[in-house]
Amino acid sequence: MCGIVGAVGFVSPKDYVFNGLKMLDYRGYDSAGVAYFNNGIQIFKDVGSVEHLLSIVPETIDTNIMIGHTRWATHGAPTKLNTHPHLSFHEKICLVHNGVIENFKELRGFLTGKGYRFYGETDTEIIANLLEYYYLEKGEIIEAIKTIMTLVKGSYAFAFFTSEDKNTLYVIKKASPLVIGLGEGFNLIASDASPMIEHTNKFIELDDLEFGIVTKDKVAIYNKKGEQIKKDTISKDVELISHDLKGYPHYMIKEIEEIPQTVRRLMAKYYQDDKYQFDPNLIKDLEESDHIIFIACGTSYHAGLVGGRYFEKYDKSTSRFIASEWAFHPTYPGKKPFIIMISQSGETADLIHCLKIIKEHNLKNLIITNTGGSTLDRNAMYSLLLYSGIEVSVASTKAYVAQVTLLAMLAAALSNDTKLIDDLTDSLDVIYDIQDHYKPLIMKVADEIKDKKNLFYLGRSFDYFLSLEASLKLKEISYIHSEAIPGGELKHGPIALIEKGIPVIVFITDPDTAASMRGNIEEVKSRGAKVYTIATKSLSKPEDTIMVEDYAYYLSSVAVSSIAFYLAYYVALAKGLNVDKPRNLAKSVTVE
Ligand code: M6R
Repeated sequence: MCGIVGAVGFVSPKDYVFNGLKMLDYRGYDSAGVAYFNNGIQIFKDVGSVEHLLSIVPETIDTNIMIGHTRWATHGAPTKLNTHPHLSFHEKICLVHNGVIENFKELRGFLTGKGYRFYGETDTEIIANLLEYYYLEKGEIIEAIKTIMTLVKGSYAFAFFTSEDKNTLYVIKKASPLVIGLGEGFNLIASDASPMIEHTNKFIELDDLEFGIVTKDKVAIYNKKGEQIKKDTISKDVELISHDLKGYPHYMIKEIEEIPQTVRRLMAKYYQDDKYQFDPNLIKDLEESDHIIFIACGTSYHAGLVGGRYFEKYDKSTSRFIASEWAFHPTYPGKKPFIIMISQSGETADLIHCLKIIKEHNLKNLIITNTGGSTLDRNAMYSLLLYSGIEVSVASTKAYVAQVTLLAMLAAALSNDTKLIDDLTDSLDVIYDIQDHYKPLIMKVADEIKDKKNLFYLGRSFDYFLSLEASLKLKEISYIHSEAIPGGELKHGPIALIEKGIPVIVFITDPDTAASMRGNIEEVKSRGAKVYTIATKSLSKPEDTIMVEDYAYYLSSVAVSSIAFYLAYYVALAKGLNVDKPRNLAKSVTVE
């Protein structure tokens, strides 16, 4: 995934584009670049951060038009040459791209045959040249756009301008997001509305296979046949798209601390007048289904593991799959399976692949996502939004809790089980308590484990699902190798890895499994492990590390996941790592 920003007619395009790139670098941060028009096309780009890019562009830039890009490398290594914007061979087209061009090799072959030469390895450079080729052949940019839309396979949001017109930005979209912000005497573009909200709250969202011609006073949208179409303008909830750090040093800690308001917002959205508020057709389809399949990746998959249990509580049979596994061996047990996909971003390629299969088999499906307008939101049969506000940190925290909360509410709606609402409300007190009282203790643990190479999380049942998530969070941002083991599995192999001083972090919040977990603690302690136990008060022992107030045990992923998130955060901080942008990762994984 990459981020695109652009402006035409804006009084200070440099400020807008650079601020926008900083906001969008959650979409990728291998390299960044900008292009503008001033005595011809000027391009500045390099590997590294937007801050670095800012240090290599002129202090003052006199221009009417600018595009910018922040990249997460797919085709071609993160090098300066592969960084966007890309200039075509005859220097007519300057283009940035978010997405993946599937047939770029074939298109490159075609262009090579026409005498084109390329300086980098990206699929994007091919498109800049393809556009140029047809622009020169047809003498008309709209004709060139229409032609390439029929030729290019894959996903794309393109933004470009030509060397012959410094007043016009062009945008084309298929399966990657692109939003236009309407101003007075200027217009803006970006991959999401957040960079523009400071300047306008009137937006046009391009749909797939549409393109736009954007000047400072006019925005015209066309379908793939080149017919101009009318599009509604929309506005956005400023709070939900704000990138303001609100005084926090990092997005991750801000987002952890937003967990209570995220849970509250979900309760307010989906539970009103003492009733769950879900689409009755969705509830009917879920009731009628005889098997529910949860599919997701990473943290969202961990939420699905918990969610599956919730539906089982209401007598639904379930199975849970990692998307990239299911896609290559799709199974749908039962006569009337119903698929629940979970994705914070709504753009995860592995899950989009699954949705294609799901649709081919006409299976009923739902996406639970934080991103309205995303590919999965637009293409699933039903969609439930998480309303968590934008999650910028690569490490997903508040979205995970929101996913679990929403799954719990949806499952409870099947039996109109309203006790859940009381249990969720109680769990908020536990979260506030952790925020108010336990951070110093968690920092101390972070300090003790920060130099370790390996560690383990242990839990059973809901505490095991939480351990999986805690372990992923720690390894993702602190680069410590960590594994989550179900307590009962220790003796089947992993216990061989327990040695003197290895940290083992144990969750004990479930009365049914507490006694067995205490046994596991003895097993690892006797082999020299340094154990840190997080327990609810009624299940705790004096030697435990953190003891939190009791809550409904099935909500551990809501009530105590903050402890795991803080721990990962403080370890990464203590190691001096880039908490919000861990190496090799992107916020949304748009490649399979
Ligand atoms: O946007 P999605 O929820 O589909 O993303 C799935 C995973 O890539 C994501 O949860 C990833 O594991 C996070 N970086 C974990 O913090």
